[in-house]
Amino acid sequence: MEHIQAAVLHQFNEPMRTEEISIDEPHDGEALIRVVASGLCHSDYSVLHGILRSELPAVLGHEGAGIVEKVGPGVTHLKPGDHVIAVLTPSCGHCPMCQEESPSLCFETFKTMVGNTMLDGTNRLQLDGRSVRQLCGIGSFAQKAVVPAGALIKVDKDVPLDKVCLIGCGVTTGVGAALNTAQVKPGSSCVVIGCGGVGLSIIQGCRIAGAETIIAVEPNVAKRDLAMELGATHTIDPKAEDARKKVREITMLGTHYAFEAIGRIDTVEQMWGMIRPNGLAVVVGVPNPRDEVKLRVSGFLAQRSMKGSAYGSAVPTRDIPRFVDLYRKGELKLDALITARIGLEQVNEAFEAMGRGEGARSVIVF
Ligand code: APR
Ligand code: ZN
Ligand code: ZN
Repeated sequence: MEHIQAAVLHQFNEPMRTEEISIDEPHDGEALIRVVASGLCHSDYSVLHGILRSELPAVLGHEGAGIVEKVGPGVTHLKPGDHVIAVLTPSCGHCPMCQEESPSLCFETFKTMVGNTMLDGTNRLQLDGRSVRQLCGIGSFAQKAVVPAGALIKVDKDVPLDKVCLIGCGVTTGVGAALNTAQVKPGSSCVVIGCGGVGLSIIQGCRIAGAETIIAVEPNVAKRDLAMELGATHTIDPKAEDARKKVREITMLGTHYAFEAIGRIDTVEQMWGMIRPNGLAVVVGVPNPRDEVKLRVSGFLAQRSMKGSAYGSAVPTRDIPRFVDLYRKGELKLDALITARIGLEQVNEAFEAMGRGEGARSVIVF
């Protein structure tokens, strides 16, 4: 057992406390990593505010990258010194979803993403004799983390971990939604509602796929500018204009694809009126899971579809190296997404800024 610094959430809607906690050795099928960097994602924010629930106390953070320090028994694909990105699915390999090559829907994520534990239902962190949960089975707002080894993807040692950590959640969720879930076709038209880290990654995915028209809907002017820099061809301020009408003006029939990247019911419903006949609307944002969506049936008569996207329908062993490669080639821009680099003790301030809609991604650098 070792002692590490971590940001611990004790109560919803209260600041996290940076304090010393203890961390166990990795068990069977797990690895201990030294966290080098972690992005702050809106899903952490949702847990912070009790919209997504977790048992507490918990260490949040699930967009991490680091260096393997120790591997538990049975781990063969990793060794100490390996550089890794932590991903949102443990890809168990034997559940029906993994067998169908849909590891982003792996049944084991019920333990890591809902229970916020390791695959055996326990945790490796303690504070004052109490077990501490790890968000998504990761908990990267800490100097070290024990993670199911299937959720650690090795990357080359020369890639900057303080940039590629974003591939762990937001970038894969966004780029994957465009390339895997929607399979955006060259020459097509797309609208992306919400331009945080996820929405800006969707825009990049649409650009990489060869979309001709990419419309970004975002109230924050700095993020609209960033959207243009990253591939959008048009922007809409939804506070100043009727976004649906404006999309119709630009595209006549509506777009081939629409993506919701905020996590609001009204914008999920709004997509239905933005896509053309045969169009596809993709729900990427995560609203309160108990909420319901209302869609006018006429959309189905025009063969419109709406689809969910879980972690960009990613196959991490295939997609993480592919996205790292796109970053190296300059096609996937990560540096522009990072609007603040912070220390662990600034994590609460950074979430307050996120609440105000400021900045694309903040990254904690240890
Ligand atoms: N219309 C368009 N954009 C909006 C609106 C609106 N009505 N309201 C807010 N936004 C913008 C915010 O200004 C912000 O830029 O949506 C963006 C959301 O970005 P972030 O808070 O940075 O969230 P992000 O991490 O990108 O995640 C987006 O995807 O994975 C899920 O849980 C995550 O639901 C969340 C979503
Ligand atoms: Zn996330
Ligand atoms: Zn599985």
